[in-house]
Amino acid sequence: MPATNHHLRNPTPQELVQIRSTHQKCWGQHLTLKQYLKREEILANTTLTGNGGLTNWALVDPTTSPATVLASCESIRKEVFFLEAGSNEVRVSHGHGIGSVFTPVEMRGKGYASLMLKMLREELKSHGGENALSVLYSDIGKEFYKKLGWQPHSSLHLNIPVSPNSSPNIATTATTPLKTASLPPLCTQDIKALKASLTATPALKSRISFHPDPKTFDWHFARAEHLANITNRPPPTTKGAITASGSAWIVWTHDFQKAGPKLHILRVAGEPSKEDAKDLLTAAVAEARECGLACVQVWNPKEAVEEAGKGLGGQIVERTDSVPSIMMYEPGVGSTVEEVEWFANERFAWC
Ligand SMILES: CC(C)(COP(=O)(O)OP(=O)(O)OC[C@H]1O[C@@H](n2cnc3c(N)ncnc32)[C@H](O)[C@@H]1OP(=O)(O)O)[C@@H](O)C(=O)NCCC(=O)NCCS
Repeated sequence: MPATNHHLRNPTPQELVQIRSTHQKCWGQHLTLKQYLKREEILANTTLTGNGGLTNWALVDPTTSPATVLASCESIRKEVFFLEAGSNEVRVSHGHGIGSVFTPVEMRGKGYASLMLKMLREELKSHGGENALSVLYSDIGKEFYKKLGWQPHSSLHLNIPVSPNSSPNIATTATTPLKTASLPPLCTQDIKALKASLTATPALKSRISFHPDPKTFDWHFARAEHLANITNRPPPTTKGAITASGSAWIVWTHDFQKAGPKLHILRVAGEPSKEDAKDLLTAAVAEARECGLACVQVWNPKEAVEEAGKGLGGQIVERTDSVPSIMMYEPGVGSTVEEVEWFANERFAWC
């Protein structure tokens, strides 16, 4: 059992370098230590994470000199919509995305990560202001975080394999590529529609959604650009595709990791028909092929997207990594799938 005098605090700058250097063996094997530390610095200084958006956390034993870091993680504060069951008033609140939960190898199995997360779940109720919830994306199955109060939600995704040799599909002309500058007005439109969708039907359970906003997308793009840079690729400039009518669009990001290069669809916006979905996914497949990515992934696709994806050779897969898990902080509001509906549970909200 961990001693009770262990406490949770922000790591010092030296401790943070030490923490990130230890992570590299786990999450950055494809990068050199220097490249990994640079990536972490870039990701900590985007519009989403800079100026207090990101907080680093360390569970420390203060009785040693210097203090020993026993476990660590980080959290990013983001805007969320919250609708209480039975209500029709959507509240704008905040939620934290927790990431990089880590215990050094030699300290594992002693309860340090559990203790840190128990302290953190209390801290995050009010960190940075009042918060409706916190989420994390579990790479270690559903049980560990569930025991601590983060309930697993749907981790289905559509996976469309991309063959490097297929001929380019002419249907890509049915859509227009999206560049970064086009995104802010589209995000405004999307967030407004998402808010309206929360009250479009009677809410038998509480409902929540993160905001698919430009700063969240930029954080993903920064990751892709860094990896493109160090693998001598041009930075990706096309960030998605929009239908000719402008009623539906997708935003994507490039994951150039050697282990599983893929195009992640961060967000499917609007209510695409099956034809729209086919055109948008065809554009995504063409982009993936051009960039040497092996598949296109869409998290929790709507029916039309799923059907169109299957028509392009895709399959629905249940992920065992990045399992979205949520803890509600609103009094009397539970966190299970039966108690809260997670709208737009898509890749953009991952961290
Ligand atoms: C996961 C991790 C943070 C747990 O840290 P810890 O301080 O050992 O955790 P605790 O002692 O509080 O709890 C241990 C429990 O974690 C769970 N756990 C650890 N690794 C696990 C894995 N790969 N899969 C499933 N459960 C796992 C088990 O339930 C374990 O119980 P056990 O020791 O009886 O087997 C640590 O193993 C780690 O840093 N792993 C590498 C990074 C990582 O995968 N982080 C999680 C990202 S979501």
